[in-house]
Amino acid sequence: MFRSLFEPGAIGTATLKNRLIMAPISSNLAAEDGSVSEKLIHHYAERAMGGVGMIIVENVCVAYPLARHGAAQPRIDDDLFIPGLCALTEAIHDGGALASVELTHPGMNAGLRYIEGETPVAPSAMPRAKDGIVPRELSLDEIGGVIDEFVEAARRAKQASFDAVELQACHGLLINQFLSPLTNHRQDEYGGSLESRARFLIEIVEGIKYHMGRDYPVMVRLVAKDMMEGGLTLEDGCWLAHCMESAGADAIHPDFGLGGKEQRLEPVPYPQAWRVFMPREIRKAVSIPVIAVGVIREPQVAEDILTAGDADFIALGRALNGRPGVAQQSASRGYKQHPALHRLQRMCDRSPRGRCASALRTQRNRRAERRRASVRTKREPKACVGHWSRPGRHGGSASCSRTRASGDTVRKTTVSGWGAHHCSHTAGKRENQLDRGVLRP
Ligand SMILES: Cc1cc2nc3c(=O)[nH]c(=O)nc-3n(C[C@H](O)[C@H](O)[C@H](O)COP(=O)(O)O)c2cc1C
Repeated sequence: MFRSLFEPGAIGTATLKNRLIMAPISSNLAAEDGSVSEKLIHHYAERAMGGVGMIIVENVCVAYPLARHGAAQPRIDDDLFIPGLCALTEAIHDGGALASVELTHPGMNAGLRYIEGETPVAPSAMPRAKDGIVPRELSLDEIGGVIDEFVEAARRAKQASFDAVELQACHGLLINQFLSPLTNHRQDEYGGSLESRARFLIEIVEGIKYHMGRDYPVMVRLVAKDMMEGGLTLEDGCWLAHCMESAGADAIHPDFGLGGKEQRLEPVPYPQAWRVFMPREIRKAVSIPVIAVGVIREPQVAEDILTAGDADFIALGRALNGRPGVAQQSASRGYKQHPALHRLQRMCDRSPRGRCASALRTQRNRRAERRRASVRTKREPKACVGHWSRPGRHGGSASCSRTRASGDTVRKTTVSGWGAHHCSHTAGKRENQLDRGVLRP
């Protein structure tokens, strides 16, 4: 039915069985010390079994503590973590998918709570927008050190049998901070022209290729456009993509850079695939595969992106969080979206942003109320640990109810489509809080 979507495709030497990739989505399910937990393995194994061609494991910290970003974030900054990461890749491979890992350094956006009293680092000492904290400018020696940290992280990834690595070079994190003129005011060889600002990323790509071999696939989650006045433009993004290809990168996964958090984690009323203009333009500048991401909720929409030649692969984020088996379901039986939500989605796709948000809210509230009623009647009240039916924190349309009875966690997710944003991010956080006793059942 969806011929292009289920055709095999290659990223460098890695061959994916289809064109669906799980986008990196922080799950908050790693152990508190950053090692791989059972929950994390289960989370990704379930999604691998769901039929995607590749999973990009979330936001993994390449340097400790300065690259730490969140509480339950996986780490890859020490060989100690390799056995856990091996168990994770084994589970993903057993599930039938390839495994990639997102190597991340947040730079000035490091979480203050997690970096043990140190000052965040950045290309320049520019105050960060969210709280005015001024990061420490990296010296030339330190820049070399951070490049080595990325290369070492890639070595561990390869040792742990990851089929590829993805460099996090967007969303306002360290590599993006080097690339953008708004955050890089350096006067040395790592600042100034776009070419010099790209040097940091080029040296990381080249370093990984040099040490791991040219056949080890490197994907770049590249800023295609800063969402801020004076930041990187789409034209810059296309030039950077071309530059990455010359440095040896095997795929470009374009997304927004500085600013625009609202657009990166957009609520439901945004039209499906509205960000496809980025891969479309980037694809004209490179000959390596390009990945489209963002509000792709229906297989037909994904198929159309591929057949129109706007991208080579489709990454799904929140959709897969909510419904691990979407790929398989789409391949085997065709895929049907919940009819009511399908109608609403169509309305949203046609109307200016926000006009039908209230209609969606009403729809969600009704569904939530029905679910609450069914929980009240079907289950013992004592068994109910947590139950929330508001949209996911990031504006999703799905909801989930969780019950814990006799130590077992039963997840019941009500979904409305590929875009059903069951926020396992929040779910994982809550589960961890329950385990640590921060929350009482
Ligand atoms: C809860 C949540 C966590 C995310 N975590 C990451 C992350 O760790 N790394 C990353 O590069 N992007 C992250 N993203 C962005 C997603 O990879 C993706 O680009 C975004 O959700 C849009 O795709 P979607 O509409 O299919 O969800 C996250 C998004 C959400 C909603």
